[in-house]
Amino acid sequence: ACLAAAGPRTVLLAAPRSFCAGVERAIEIVERVLADRGAPVYVRKQIVHNRHVVHGLERRGAVFVDELDGVPDGATVVFSAHGVSPAVRAEAARRRLDVIDATCPLVTKVHAEARRFAARGDTVVLVGHDGHEEVEGTLGEAPSRTVLVQNAEEATRLEVPDPQRVSYLTQTTLAVDETAEVVDALRARFPALRGPVSDDICYATTNRQRALAAIARESDLVLVVGSANSSNSARLVELAQRHGTRAHLIDDAGDVEPSWLAGAGVVGVTAGASAPPKLVDDVLTALGGLGPVTVAERELTTETVHFALPPSVTGR
Ligand code: F3S
Repeated sequence: ACLAAAGPRTVLLAAPRSFCAGVERAIEIVERVLADRGAPVYVRKQIVHNRHVVHGLERRGAVFVDELDGVPDGATVVFSAHGVSPAVRAEAARRRLDVIDATCPLVTKVHAEARRFAARGDTVVLVGHDGHEEVEGTLGEAPSRTVLVQNAEEATRLEVPDPQRVSYLTQTTLAVDETAEVVDALRARFPALRGPVSDDICYATTNRQRALAAIARESDLVLVVGSANSSNSARLVELAQRHGTRAHLIDDAGDVEPSWLAGAGVVGVTAGASAPPKLVDDVLTALGGLGPVTVAERELTTETVHFALPPSVTGR
């Protein structure tokens, strides 16, 4: 079919989208360490969950390892934006590794809450996805006192030693609406439940979900730029689908299947917090190559969050 014959297409560009302050900071940390100390620079796990970011840094001399045993004694290692458990920090100290911590400050905040809640004798219920690196790190703060709950059904069945002493925490990149349901289920089961001041879903996750929700219903198709292991990107795809709109996760413009665009007069575009803005530009260019396109940006809120770099990187 001739796609151009369908007439001009509208692209609704959600804003905010793409990089958050924690991802920008983590990438800048690796770039600075590469510039100051030269390659190789070891990074434990993907610095952020994006293929393009990781490959770009690899080309410049970053070496991504799964665990610290892939790092030579005494070498410099960067911890990823998702954070690490105390056991990993202890192992790095034992190996005399030179650690530069790129953990997002908003993840560090959740770790501090985990320690505080556990120290007052509570069972800590962590709402999150099993196996995600952020969850592994947070669970490691008080492993014997923390339980992972992934959905409302698990919350309803949860058994704890003392129902009067239960606190919850959340992963930073969950769906805002689904998490509220899980917390409601926990509170129904444990009326004395305590939690963080607000929930732990970060500003960037919340803003990207709200911005997409504002355009999802108007769109015939939603494209979310992000990698498959990016939690907040996957949540954006699901959110569009809950609004009844077809949605696909794409790593880059090359993943766009022309058949998706058949009958899609309005295409919503957004990107997860770990996806570079350049990839979104490329998607718009690719859509423009398939026929006339009008791009309308729908900016729901402006983000001004910025996190300072750690002193070990700035030399101050
Ligand atoms: Fe931090 Fe949220 Fe980004 S926790 S890394 S600001 S998605």
